[in-house]
Amino acid sequence: MEKLLYITANPKGLEKSKGLKIGEAFLESFHRVRPDVSIKKVDLFSLDFPQMDADLVSARGKLAGYGYTLDQLLDIEREKITKMHDLANEFISYDYYVFVSPMWNLNSPAILKAYIDNLFIAGKTFAHTANGPKGLLMNKKAIHLQTRGGQYTGTPMEALESGDRYLKIALRFLGIEVAESVITEGFDINPLKVPEILAQGQENARLAAIDFAPTPVTA
Ligand SMILES: Cc1cc2nc3c(=O)[nH]c(=O)nc-3n(C[C@H](O)[C@H](O)[C@H](O)COP(=O)(O)O)c2cc1C
Repeated sequence: MEKLLYITANPKGLEKSKGLKIGEAFLESFHRVRPDVSIKKVDLFSLDFPQMDADLVSARGKLAGYGYTLDQLLDIEREKITKMHDLANEFISYDYYVFVSPMWNLNSPAILKAYIDNLFIAGKTFAHTANGPKGLLMNKKAIHLQTRGGQYTGTPMEALESGDRYLKIALRFLGIEVAESVITEGFDINPLKVPEILAQGQENARLAAIDFAPTPVTA
């Protein structure tokens, strides 16, 4: 059975977040098209996962750079890198990924970058080859649903957007096919139009879900 991982990075909760409501519209539509795919939800603000701190940076360097084995690491390093590898292994077990996040200060909430940091593991999710790095997560597909307070698309602000751009670059680096993002913007500069913008975002998400996985990704 194929599996979809629904990853949200918004502390506001479904009641208050426009992005999470858009995400739910995507999921409902996806489930109608692909009832055979199981869905797991992960709220990054509730997930306990390793941060790239001194122990993890040290463990990473010893394993990748100096050929240490797990047994040769300090206990705390082994504990944290094992959690990191467990998280990456869990991620790898999915076929589809849906990321839902708001734009915060031109980027995504920092917790999303912290999560992605756990997925960059040489030899597991990407490999160094003679022709440069190569993603190892083949036959997988992702999409990002992003909400923004301002208007970036088609304006000089477009070049400043770094959250959606980084996420797509990171996922493609790992070998994942990335669909066109569903961007819903202008919420905060058009307060009277919020219901309208939200409804359009939900409709765009429903349509994107139909295109996202019409057939199994491994077919
Ligand atoms: C900490 C913070 C930083 C933000 N930075 C930006 C920004 O750089 N650009 C922007 O367009 N909106 C920014 N916003 C506004 C949100 O992106 C906007 O309100 C969006 O609709 C939130 O979606 P949500 O309802 O799903 O949380 C910021 C909001 C917060 C809380």
